[in-house]
Amino acid sequence: MKKGLIVQVIDIQFANLPGILEDILRDVMTEDTIQGCDYDPFNISSQIAVLKDTKILICKIRGAIEDGKAKTETSWLPSRTNSRIVPYSIEKLASTRNGKRPVTLGRTRSDHLTVDVKMLDGKLNIITGKKGVGKSHLSKLLILSLIQNGAPCLVIDVNGEYVNIGRTKNDEPTAYADKITVLKPGQSLKFGLSGVGLKTFLNTMIYALDLPRTSSKVFSRIWNELERSGNLKLDSLNDAIRRFSCHESVREAIYSRFNTLMDLELFTDDISERFDFSLFEKKMNEGHAFIINMKDEHAISRRLVVELFISKLTEQLSEMRLKAVFLFAEEAHFYLRETYWEDIITRMRHLGVFTTFITNQPDTVQESVYRQADNIFMFNITNEHDLDAISKVAKIDAESLRSIVKDLPAHNCLIVGDIVRDFPIVVNVKPLDIQTMGQTRHFFQD
Ligand SMILES: Nc1ncnc2c1ncn2[C@@H]1O[C@H](COP(=O)(O)OP(=O)(O)OP(=O)(O)O)[C@@H](O)[C@H]1O
Ligand SMILES: [Mg+2]
Repeated sequence: MKKGLIVQVIDIQFANLPGILEDILRDVMTEDTIQGCDYDPFNISSQIAVLKDTKILICKIRGAIEDGKAKTETSWLPSRTNSRIVPYSIEKLASTRNGKRPVTLGRTRSDHLTVDVKMLDGKLNIITGKKGVGKSHLSKLLILSLIQNGAPCLVIDVNGEYVNIGRTKNDEPTAYADKITVLKPGQSLKFGLSGVGLKTFLNTMIYALDLPRTSSKVFSRIWNELERSGNLKLDSLNDAIRRFSCHESVREAIYSRFNTLMDLELFTDDISERFDFSLFEKKMNEGHAFIINMKDEHAISRRLVVELFISKLTEQLSEMRLKAVFLFAEEAHFYLRETYWEDIITRMRHLGVFTTFITNQPDTVQESVYRQADNIFMFNITNEHDLDAISKVAKIDAESLRSIVKDLPAHNCLIVGDIVRDFPIVVNVKPLDIQTMGQTRHFFQD
């Protein structure tokens, strides 16, 4: 085939030919009342039956084939009487042939979809869809493909469901088990005050605990004084806040927040217990996934840990100690403060933080994220309000998106973006032989 138009079927309807509906209604009405035998000398009833069942495929033009190559731009229409209609292989269309880092995402209607994980590099991605359709499953598949190719990943796991991605269903370690580390805040993840730094500590007090501005200035002074005298320890900070000469209400404001933070048991003075950020850096650069298990964590602890990692990452990336990070954030509105969204898609992206947002509440992701996203993986969504939210994506028209996404079966997703060379493709995501742990707990077991 030298020249052709690539069209995608987005909907199937009955052809509404003039008079057909009337004929169907008449058939139904007269079925019982008129007696006798049908007389059909020209044998047209079979043809009418075929016409009544004729389906029309609603299509959108996605690109063209010129000299055997698929392109997304078209500026030409073929003849509608003399053209041939043939299925076109997805493998040829969207798969990145000769990709150095191939990963098979799953099956399409006709073949397999193999993409290059490089297409996640430097990108902003969204995985969305309603509950239980397979979003986290796909994100686990992406993470495993990334670490298999030596990429560094950081996963913010709000439900504790990524903790076993290094073990098979038979509970044996997979080939990549030693490239995965699970961190539990308060246990394997504790911080020292100096490691956290004043900025992050203060930000958490301000943004997560509403510390008033005036009090925050006083707190900075206390912290700086202790730091100068080389006495930045939990007990001395506690004492200094209590003894610092300032207005009672200011002291009270600081002290109550400080206590809330201490109750999280995230901090320690013991060097051997502290999380080693230089080891983190080393492992990340060798290709590793760190999973922060936030299950059952207090909302403030989640925010603090995320805030802390984000500021550490920015530091390590801007000093070129870390090459890049693929950040996977499930239900980010739980722990990501307003001002970070913009930052993640602009400044941090330039530094090398490549984020994948995963959510079953599409309206919690900011509109700018949809507009800027390079790859979008959409599972079934039926709610009109949610469909409105995802219609903001720039990479596909709203009509196709609605029509396809509403009818997707579980485990199937519509992918648009760079990873499929901008051709929207529906794929049935492949199963994984790991403990995906996404199941909801049930009482009735049958
Ligand atoms: N492609 C797939 N093949 C086989 N099993 C799958 C697939 N996708 C998902 N599952 C299974 O379906 C269940 C739900 O999947 P998953 O946890 O990924 O859904 P989710 O969309 O993340 O749900 P939630 O919105 O509740 O987070 C899990 O038990 C998972 O193992
Ligand atoms: Mg999930």
